[in-house]
Amino acid sequence: MTKKRKAPIKPDTLLVTSGRDPEAQHGFVNPPVYHASTLLYPTAEDQVAHRARYSYGRRGTPTSEALENALRELDGEGCAGVALLPSGLAAIAAALLATTQSGDHILVVDSVYRPTRNFCNGVLRRMGVQTTYYDPLVGTDIAKLFKPNTRAVFVEAPGSQSFEMQDIPAIAGIAHDKKAVVLMDNTWATPLYFRAFEKGVDLEIQAGTKYIGGHSDIMFGCVSANAGVLPALKDTVYSMGLCVGPDDMYLAMRGLRTLGVRLARHYQSALHVAKWLEKRPEVLRVLHPALENGPGHDLWKRDFSGACGLFSIVLKPASEKSVHAFLNELSLFGLGYSWGGFESLAILFDCSDYRTATKWAPGGPTIRFHIGLEDPADLIADLERGFAALAAA
Ligand SMILES: Cc1ncc(COP(=O)(O)O)c(C=O)c1O
Repeated sequence: MTKKRKAPIKPDTLLVTSGRDPEAQHGFVNPPVYHASTLLYPTAEDQVAHRARYSYGRRGTPTSEALENALRELDGEGCAGVALLPSGLAAIAAALLATTQSGDHILVVDSVYRPTRNFCNGVLRRMGVQTTYYDPLVGTDIAKLFKPNTRAVFVEAPGSQSFEMQDIPAIAGIAHDKKAVVLMDNTWATPLYFRAFEKGVDLEIQAGTKYIGGHSDIMFGCVSANAGVLPALKDTVYSMGLCVGPDDMYLAMRGLRTLGVRLARHYQSALHVAKWLEKRPEVLRVLHPALENGPGHDLWKRDFSGACGLFSIVLKPASEKSVHAFLNELSLFGLGYSWGGFESLAILFDCSDYRTATKWAPGGPTIRFHIGLEDPADLIADLERGFAALAAA
């Protein structure tokens, strides 16, 4: 910002003001997009002494710096810096690689995003890092799972399909007593609705492909770190040559400006649709932590200040044909993975064949919805047509 801030400001204001320096950009509001690899030094002396603010495109440009600064400011006190990655999964992988080495043991929540699990069972195992999966509802009993070589605990709340909540402050307290670091996938709540660093998280991961981007058109991820783990994170990211394309960085920055208003609308509309679904005779349960009867509602109320557009339902037992008829009838809900864009989505899912610490037996077919920015009345009408098709199939 050109004008100096006069007082501490709130997250919605930060989203608009952070990472901007119009004075340095001839007065233009937004930072420019640097398409850059090579940087030229004015003299041989400068080159030999590496005397320049930037050194090479992969190591940072004014575009990446502006986005890192904006994300760091949003995370607030406790966040010492941010690394930008080319996808959410790359951010998860970088955070895990930065905090583990051969011979280590880590604890990972059983409801974790499945590709995180694949990374632990594949790359980390090959590296000699052993993973134990734990029940998301474990609470303070997590203490019993620690081994002398446990270095990291991975949390994610809620689970992005099954929506179990976790007691993150309790888990973080125990992890720190045992000298382990806490990594969190905070894509669902974002720093707007869950203040990861205040709750004891050391490395916070976001799949920026979701709400930061907000328009289903970029691949992007980021890891925010406290001062203790930031050097290891940056070293890992630089050593692996990981960086983000300039246009995706720009779109991530642009997405940040409207994150607050978009998320508030996703929150409001999703809760409205979830409450309507709770009353449907075809629905056994709605898995949305902001509902009073939702999983982990008390933890959500204590630790979170909002919710996004993502939740699931368990249908009463129904044939595959009728569930497919329901989904095929929907015209406003696309049938697609990912989420966080402006549009509504639905997918069928089943966690039963890969859980190891818990059993997934919800009692009926399960569908995950992402509620977009459409008018919720239209979405409800669409779902009503879907339920008519389910009954007719
Ligand atoms: C909870 C969660 N974390 C991480 C990711 C990975 O993000 P990306 O698709 O950008 O790799 C996803 C993607 O669906 C996700 O749902």
